[in-house]
Amino acid sequence: MPSGLRSDLILGIETSCDETAAAVLRGPRQVLSSIIASQIPVHRRYGGVVPELASRQHLLSIESVLKDALEVAGVGLKDLGGVAVTYGPGLVGSLLVGISVAKSLSMVLELPLAAVNHHEGHIRSVFIEHEEAPLPMLMLMVSGGDTSLYLVSEGDVYRPLAHTRDDAAGEAYDKVAKLLGLGYPGGPIIDKLAAKGDPRAVPFTRPRMTDGTLDFSFSGLKTAVLRYVQSHGIGSLAASSGETAPPHPSQQILDLLASFQEAVVKYLVDQTVRAARHHGARSIGMSGGVACNSRLRQAMRDAGGRLGLPVYYPSPALTTDNAAMIASAGYLHLRRGHTADLTLNADPAARL
Ligand code: KG4
Repeated sequence: MPSGLRSDLILGIETSCDETAAAVLRGPRQVLSSIIASQIPVHRRYGGVVPELASRQHLLSIESVLKDALEVAGVGLKDLGGVAVTYGPGLVGSLLVGISVAKSLSMVLELPLAAVNHHEGHIRSVFIEHEEAPLPMLMLMVSGGDTSLYLVSEGDVYRPLAHTRDDAAGEAYDKVAKLLGLGYPGGPIIDKLAAKGDPRAVPFTRPRMTDGTLDFSFSGLKTAVLRYVQSHGIGSLAASSGETAPPHPSQQILDLLASFQEAVVKYLVDQTVRAARHHGARSIGMSGGVACNSRLRQAMRDAGGRLGLPVYYPSPALTTDNAAMIASAGYLHLRRGHTADLTLNADPAARL
C-alpha cells in the first residue's frame, strides 16, 4: 500500500473535452472499471465540439457515469484511497465540471486529490497495458486537441520535444471531413474511406519548420485540401445534415482522402522517427484518438521495425479520452505524496 493512502483504489475523472469519463483502478494498471459517456451525438450536427454544449452535457452525465464506474468495479466510495482528475489542457467549462466533483469527493470523503495533466494521462495509457516497454520511449501524442512528441524516461519523467503550432492532427481530420460533408468525428470516417482511394493521387507538400524544430503544423495541409476541392469543383456531400451514415463519395474524393491521410501519416511517422533517432529512444509509443488510425498504426510499426524499435499503443478504449489513464497517472502522483488542494483550478492551456 502506498504510504498515506487508505487503499490502492483510485477513482479517476476526465471531462476535458467531449467525453464524460470515470474509472476505478487498483494501483497504476489494474482497471476495475472504465466508463465513458460520449457526446458525439450532441456535437455531430455542428461538425465539431461546441464548448457550451459540452459542459452542459458533462453536468447531465457525470453522476450516472460515476455511479456506473463504482458499480462495475464493485466498490463503494468508502473503499477509495484517492481521487484523480484532469485539470488541463482542455475546455475550461468542461474541465471545471470534473474538478468540482473531484474536489467535493475529496473534501467530503477526506481523500487525497491528484491533479493530472491530460497529456500525462495519454502517456500513462500506454503503460497500463505495456509495463514492459523499454525506456526511454519516444511518445507521439496525437489527438483532436494536440499533436506532441515527448521523451518518456525512468521515474515518470516526460520531456516535451515538439507541439503543433496550429491545428492538431485530429482537428485536421475533423475539418477535412466537415468540408466534404462526411460526418463527425472525421478521423474514423476518413480512416475507413481512405482505404478505398489511391494515396498517390494528390501530391501534398510536407509542412516544414524553417527554424529546424520538430514542431508540427497541420493548417497548411487542411488549406491544401480546401484549394483542391475548390479548384476541382468538388461539392459537400451532406452539407450539415447531421446524418450518421457517411454518404458514398466519388473515386475522386476517395483518392483525395487517401492522399490527405498518407500525407498526415508520413509526416507524423517521419517526425517521430527523427526524434527517436536523435534522442536514442529504445521504444516508440502512440496515444490519443488519432493513434487509432489503421494506416498510422501500420506505418509506425513498419518504421519501428526498420529502426529495430518496438512500437506500443493502447487498445482502442484506452487510446481515446478515458478516465483509466487519469487514475493511473493520479496513483503515481499520490504514491509520491504529490497532492492538490481545494484551490485547484482548470488550466485550459496546461503543458506538461
Ligand atoms: O483523444 P481524443 O478522443 O480526444 C481529444 O481530442 O482529446 O481524440 C479525438 C480525435 C478526433 O479528432 C477524431 O477525429 C480522431 O481523434 N480520431 C481519428 C481516428 N479515431 C479518432 N483520427 C484518425 N483516424 C482514426 N481512426
